[in-house]
Amino acid sequence: MTDQPAATTREFHEGTKLGDAAQGPRSTLRPEGFTPMDMTNRPAPFKRYPDAPRISLPREVGESQGPAASVLSGERDAAAGDVELDARLLARLLFYSAGVTRVRSSDGQVANWFRAAPAAGNLHPVEMYVVCGAIGDVAAGIHHFGPGDFTLETVRTGDRRAALADALADDAPLRSSVSLVLTGLPWSTGWKYTARGFRHIYWDAGSMLAQTLAVADAAGISARVHLGFVDSQISEELGLDGVSEFPVAVVTLGHGASPAEALGGTELVGGEPAPASPRPFEFPEVTRTQRAGDLSDGEAVRHWREAAAEIGRGAVEQVTGSAGSAEAGSGDRIEELVRRRGSTRMFRPDEISSDLADWCLGVASRPVPADFVGAGMTLLSHFVSVHAAAGVASGRHEWRDGTLQPIAAEPAAAARAEAQRLCLGQPLGGDSAFSVFHCVDLEEVFTALGDRGYRAAQLEAGLAAGRLQLAAFAAGLGGTGLTFFDDAVSAAFDTSQACMLVTAVGASDYRSRPGGLPGEPTEMSGFAPGVVERFKARYERDDA
Ligand SMILES: Cc1cc2nc3c(=O)[nH]c(=O)nc-3n(C[C@H](O)[C@H](O)[C@H](O)COP(=O)(O)O)c2cc1C
Repeated sequence: MTDQPAATTREFHEGTKLGDAAQGPRSTLRPEGFTPMDMTNRPAPFKRYPDAPRISLPREVGESQGPAASVLSGERDAAAGDVELDARLLARLLFYSAGVTRVRSSDGQVANWFRAAPAAGNLHPVEMYVVCGAIGDVAAGIHHFGPGDFTLETVRTGDRRAALADALADDAPLRSSVSLVLTGLPWSTGWKYTARGFRHIYWDAGSMLAQTLAVADAAGISARVHLGFVDSQISEELGLDGVSEFPVAVVTLGHGASPAEALGGTELVGGEPAPASPRPFEFPEVTRTQRAGDLSDGEAVRHWREAAAEIGRGAVEQVTGSAGSAEAGSGDRIEELVRRRGSTRMFRPDEISSDLADWCLGVASRPVPADFVGAGMTLLSHFVSVHAAAGVASGRHEWRDGTLQPIAAEPAAAARAEAQRLCLGQPLGGDSAFSVFHCVDLEEVFTALGDRGYRAAQLEAGLAAGRLQLAAFAAGLGGTGLTFFDDAVSAAFDTSQACMLVTAVGASDYRSRPGGLPGEPTEMSGFAPGVVERFKARYERDDA
């Protein structure tokens, strides 16, 4: 195996596959003494720097103009004219990417926090940092976003945009007043998902970025996702050890800013972060896989980026069709849509219109402005199990060139049963109107992009899943991300491609209250009368 490209990551991928029910639903790569989901060792819901200087973010974050549906369709072209990114817009971007929108309390105490973006197991292993010049009350520096109290915690002083540009081997951060750095905390998700949590970090980061990009677009700010950077330089800038937390992605925002001033003095001022839990575990396979993809210097970054610019298949930039207009959705602004989003826990088996299905799939498969794939291209293929879309044969399809292309027709009941089986037996996978299996030709990715290509493949899948969920809500439907049995998906669609993530879309069986604004999360008081009974009945029927 060692003479193959990306041998370390191949081994990780194989070792973290989920097999059929007989093999158990969890990855077997576990450190000694580790028990998944030990409630006495549960990671804190938020990373915190207790001793860092704090900056309160403006809570009046405002909203954009124009319907969410046109943003998701790609009708808005932010690059055409960047607006000035001020502290309020920065606060808006952070809130609608990672802010707290809902809480569930028990005995007067908040027991669960829900965020603007989805995250597997509601574990949120992705942190956001701001690297900026001075913007209003936000001093130049590197700041960690604290969703719990809606503040920025300063981890480093000084204008570090030039240092970020150096790490990216790209001057984009110098032309941008703000860049965002996403990092991953393997323990936060590994607590439940063990080593497979590495995949979750990139899925969750992608789901978050679907919202960052949409909110930036709606505000008229161009944004670009970068996966090419010198990992150790970013870790050093942020004060990370690169093991318990490592850099995942950088987003540069806007391109109209005047070039950054010459570097002033800089100092790490964040102090020690609060411990994540009493006994955090390291997952050696995660550390090894992340390390295997690291880039050591600017030349390696440039080389990787050049290879990435040549890879991918064509994607459709702008989605057309009647469902792309506001009349199909509610006419919500993107911010209202993000607050309405919540992973659907139960679908009604209703048939949906094929226009809506096409529109949602078109939104999901749009190209991402990123350095990890050619311009206007995608690494992904989308295989679709259709269960209830008017005029579309139930069964297996591939979404290609903007249409659903049949692979094998099947009675709806059989297609539903098979999709449920592929999604670890979860009823949501088969109760949907359609379920999308976001897949990648890993052989091609490993050959062109080495170990680091795996990060790109997982992240783009998360982004597509995030966009698809938003599109579903814009279209008056519901949606959820789902995990899956790896090889069973490839076999079902008769493909050598590997499944990265699944999204189920359909008519929601209930309506949640929208999430709240910064500092005013909606209290989830439970589901509407009757929903819990229907939910239980669905699962009991399934267990039988
Ligand atoms: C990558 C990813 C995978 C997920 N996998 C599942 C899953 O297998 N089963 C499930 O019921 N929900 C799944 N979810 C939904 C999460 O449980 C949900 O996002 C989380 O509980 C937070 O709730 P919210 O999305 O309503 O904010 C997944 C979400 C993401 C982003």
